[in-house]
Amino acid sequence: MRRKIVAGNWKMNNDLSATQALLTELKKQLPDTQAEVMVAPTFVNLFPAFEAARTSKIQVVAQNMHFAESGAYTGEVSAEMLGSIGIEAVILGHSERRAYFGEDDALLAKKVDTALSHEMEIIFCFGEELDDRKSGNHFNIVESQLKNALFHLAPDAWDFIVLAYEPVWAIGTGETASPEQAQEMHEFIRKTIASKYGQEIADRVSILYGGSVKPNNAQEIFSKPDVDGGLIGGASLKAEDFTAIIKSI
Ligand code: 13P
Repeated sequence: MRRKIVAGNWKMNNDLSATQALLTELKKQLPDTQAEVMVAPTFVNLFPAFEAARTSKIQVVAQNMHFAESGAYTGEVSAEMLGSIGIEAVILGHSERRAYFGEDDALLAKKVDTALSHEMEIIFCFGEELDDRKSGNHFNIVESQLKNALFHLAPDAWDFIVLAYEPVWAIGTGETASPEQAQEMHEFIRKTIASKYGQEIADRVSILYGGSVKPNNAQEIFSKPDVDGGLIGGASLKAEDFTAIIKSI
């Protein structure tokens, strides 16, 4: 059975005390759920968050990492460093990394390989911009993002991949994709994977939706057959909202 996952991407929010306070609150309010729950604090707060979450089912994951093993990359963080503090999963390819830090498919393919070589699970983000959607090019964009960064992988690597479809026009805008738009794209993504890796792998991969998921729209989006959970930005910063979203899966 496919895993259900609700993950919170905290982006560049929450200092140390806010991180600890939010985790304390989340642990208190966390509903009984079959879904896996993840949160991604900023690098400096990963270890304290990991410690704070230790006694709960919340998994702490990283928002990013570098492709190199180590060396002269000022300001960067390696897979090995993440692993050494207990972090076992990383978000790669977020649209903000692509847009503001120039991360392209080729670079992401290298990061994916490095993460896999450390047996790190990857939450791989991708999605089209508004112009692509308006011009009807969104399926092509998504297909090429997947192919360029992931289709060099061996089939067994897919055990370590979770996909997160995040249409850029829906991120932080309050304008979410309709449940039908999300389902249509998730179905397309699964078909694209099936065409390369076969139906069994395609059916096993969890595909999360991200982009303005809130307590009032989560249930309808999560009810779609190819939507296996969500990657939540703004609403994951409030314990009540995030737990309400978790409850709705
Ligand atoms: P919002 O939920 O704030 O739209 O952000 C989504 C996102 O970027 C998660 O990675």
